[in-house]
Amino acid sequence: MTLEQIIWLSLFILTVVTLVSFFWVFAPYFPTRKGHLALIQKVAQLKAGDTFYELGCGDARVSIALAKAYPEAQIIGLEMAGPLFFWAWIKAKLSRQKNLTIKWKNIFWQNLSDADSVYIFGMTESLNKKLKEKFLAELKPEARIISYVFTMKEWPGKTETFKGKLSGKDQTKITIYTLPAPPN
Ligand SMILES: C[S@@+](CC[C@H](N)C(=O)[O-])C[C@H]1O[C@@H](n2cnc3c(N)ncnc32)[C@H](O)[C@@H]1O
Repeated sequence: MTLEQIIWLSLFILTVVTLVSFFWVFAPYFPTRKGHLALIQKVAQLKAGDTFYELGCGDARVSIALAKAYPEAQIIGLEMAGPLFFWAWIKAKLSRQKNLTIKWKNIFWQNLSDADSVYIFGMTESLNKKLKEKFLAELKPEARIISYVFTMKEWPGKTETFKGKLSGKDQTKITIYTLPAPPN
């Protein structure tokens, strides 16, 4: 290999590593509005012993709010962006909620078959489509998906919609999708 080829190969590897790290560190982050947390706590309706996942938990504000509202449920927040995970982990420790775990993990590497409820604040149509396929493949019958703002098309089970109320203009939607019950 010539020196010129080595330089080009090094530049190529450096570019790939930079792009991958950038995505890993700065995945799109928009938090759930704090004024909507009380409504989310109300509509989540977790039962004692339930397992709840927040998929892409950001600073864990939703996970912390639910861990406080439902101390007898297990709350797990998953976040893949390193700095956000670290911040969420510190906030979770400071909250002293024993029923709360924050994991540094890609949501697509987590099997959701033990989930009773999941929370998503999705970002793009393609991400939501991939998530819908994952939910239908892994979630158990009658598990619930609490979706902030974003909606999923042609859901085969029950769909309920709640409106956020922060001001007269606030049209924020929270949609709960329920997996169909098992056939008798
Ligand atoms: C719109 S923000 C919502 C944050 C938080 N759930 C909330 O409502 O405040 C989406 C979050 O998902 C994270 N995220 C995106 N793709 C992910 C993936 N594949 N695995 C884990 N986290 C992911 C982003 O880093 C970001 O923090």
